[in-house]
Amino acid sequence: MCQPQSPGFRVVITGKGGVGKTTLTSCLATVLARNGINVLAVDEDPQMNLPNALGVGFEAASRIVPLNSHADYIEEKTGIRPAKSGWGALFKLNPDVDDVVGRFGLRVAENLNLLVMGTVRQAGGGCLCAENVLLDATIRHLSLRNNEAILLDTQAGVEHFGRALARGFGHCLVVADSSFNALSVACHSAGLARQSGIPLVYLVVNRVAQGSEARLERFRQESGQEFAGIFDAVIELPAEPLLQALDPDVTRIMDEPGSAYAIAVTALASRLNAPPCMCGSDHHQHHEHGHQHVH
Ligand SMILES: Nc1ncnc2c1ncn2[C@@H]1O[C@H](COP(=O)(O)OP(=O)(O)OP(=O)(O)O)[C@@H](O)[C@H]1O
Ligand SMILES: [Mg+2]
Repeated sequence: MCQPQSPGFRVVITGKGGVGKTTLTSCLATVLARNGINVLAVDEDPQMNLPNALGVGFEAASRIVPLNSHADYIEEKTGIRPAKSGWGALFKLNPDVDDVVGRFGLRVAENLNLLVMGTVRQAGGGCLCAENVLLDATIRHLSLRNNEAILLDTQAGVEHFGRALARGFGHCLVVADSSFNALSVACHSAGLARQSGIPLVYLVVNRVAQGSEARLERFRQESGQEFAGIFDAVIELPAEPLLQALDPDVTRIMDEPGSAYAIAVTALASRLNAPPCMCGSDHHQHHEHGHQHVH
């Protein structure tokens, strides 16, 4: 029998570079907040594009203090200095969203706050230094109440899966366009998301336009990958020429009632907001691998 999952919901947005992750994160955050959900949008990308996409403004964005510059807070929450403990220290406390947002977050709009992780990167790939492990754990351990959501925008690629940043998240949105490489990365990411224990993994095909279906079909044939066996749903977001004109505050697309992109993002937001079950299904799908085409 389906049991409700812990209150609130957490969504990680991942995918190859430039496929539209940050645009989708900021638009989803906007529509969920407008629907009364308390949203915490988290920017994991060291390039810190999410503040601009949310329309924070250059000056306010430049004043954001990333979470990684607060070793004292991490120490308070863990009781242990990262340098002393090595990685793997257990949390004594679960910081709640209010606490973290109150100290380090930026209020973007009603019900919408932004947190920038500022994750440290080191040459040569995955950094498992203690600071990063504890920084990731701060995000993982944020305890959510009803009506709260965390949307985590990640940097391009799959490195964050190696750090298990999104362990315990309920949804993974793997964004791709219809290019062969983006779809390959997406299929690989789906496996990593499952290994992280994320129950619902959706493929979001972005910038869908004429010719996209044929490219998707070619990918299926040439790679032998079947989306239905890999993803819980396939969701299409149309190409939206207006986004370019709205850059960098792309959330203004959500004020365009005629935008097919805005309509598709709104439908996706409703789907994420439907309470998931521990059984790994969602109420829209009833255990089936389904395709949702939103045009
Ligand atoms: N559906 C769409 N139609 C048209 N343009 C889009 C669409 N979605 C995103 N874009 C545009 O694509 C560009 C890249 O988008 P975005 O920055 O969201 O990608 P990203 O995956 O976050 O990139 P990165 O990997 O660098 O973080 C932006 O200029 C954005 O406006
Ligand atoms: Mg981005």
